[in-house]
Amino acid sequence: KWVLYGTEVVERDKVSIDLEDRGYNFGDGIYEVISIHGGKPFALRPHFLRFVESARKMQIALPCKWEDIAMSVEELLRKTGVQDGIVYIQMTRGVSQRNHVYTHKEQAVITGFARSTSSMEEEQTNGMACFVTEDLRWLRCDIKSLNLLGNIMAKRQAADEGCQEAILHRQWQCTEGSASNVFIVKNGIVYTHEANHYILNGITRQYVLSLAQKLNITVREEAFSLAALERADEVFCTSTSLEVAPVVEVKGDIQATYEIGQVTKTLQQALQQVLF
Ligand code: PDD
Repeated sequence: KWVLYGTEVVERDKVSIDLEDRGYNFGDGIYEVISIHGGKPFALRPHFLRFVESARKMQIALPCKWEDIAMSVEELLRKTGVQDGIVYIQMTRGVSQRNHVYTHKEQAVITGFARSTSSMEEEQTNGMACFVTEDLRWLRCDIKSLNLLGNIMAKRQAADEGCQEAILHRQWQCTEGSASNVFIVKNGIVYTHEANHYILNGITRQYVLSLAQKLNITVREEAFSLAALERADEVFCTSTSLEVAPVVEVKGDIQATYEIGQVTKTLQQALQQVLF
């Protein structure tokens, strides 16, 4: 019943969104998904820093300080009482008569909700099957924009093939998952796509990379090919909701099966210790 609207926590039926909100017309907006553990948001600050960065890249002016939104998120959590789940926050450029050209005069519209989510224990313990398919998205995947057509179509295709996630590639170089980052392990070395405009630099990705460093696991942030994916010793995906989820099978443009390996397990446990 309680949702975020601007920097206020209000009842859901008090929210009114204009039919010419640019988020609705153009997907002209950004979002964040933050996990909640024991009633507390995890990595609130990194998520908001990325939110601010996405807004900057899209020239959307924040209507307030991000700290004010963060405070409202805390209030939302108190009011909803969500213990384990997620907070979703989105900001559209706001309302203007439908026209491709934005004027910089629109007033950004912020909405959000908190929700309990079912655990990803099944995926985390037994691993996922992933559907490998072409990355059809635009070239600014570093922005966490509301435009997710390329992502949702790949995810649907994956689901139709009995897979839990899609792994995307551009000309046989792996980029990321439809809603996660992808890692492979080969001869004890961890590889994941570098954080450039082809991928979203996941907050979980960043945690896993720093944990790997602490654990003396060698990491190379560089693109790897489908052939490398096919021959990998271990494969795993990371995201706010998946945390670290092993991949046990890929199909689609390549086919392979994997064991859940020691490096994956070590990083999974290390992240769990940070989360709980
Ligand atoms: N997805 N790459 C893409 C394309 C994503 O959509 C996400 C997150 C990630 C991982 O980012 P993080 O570790 O910060 O969650 C990578 C969120 C959870 C979503 O859209 O629901």
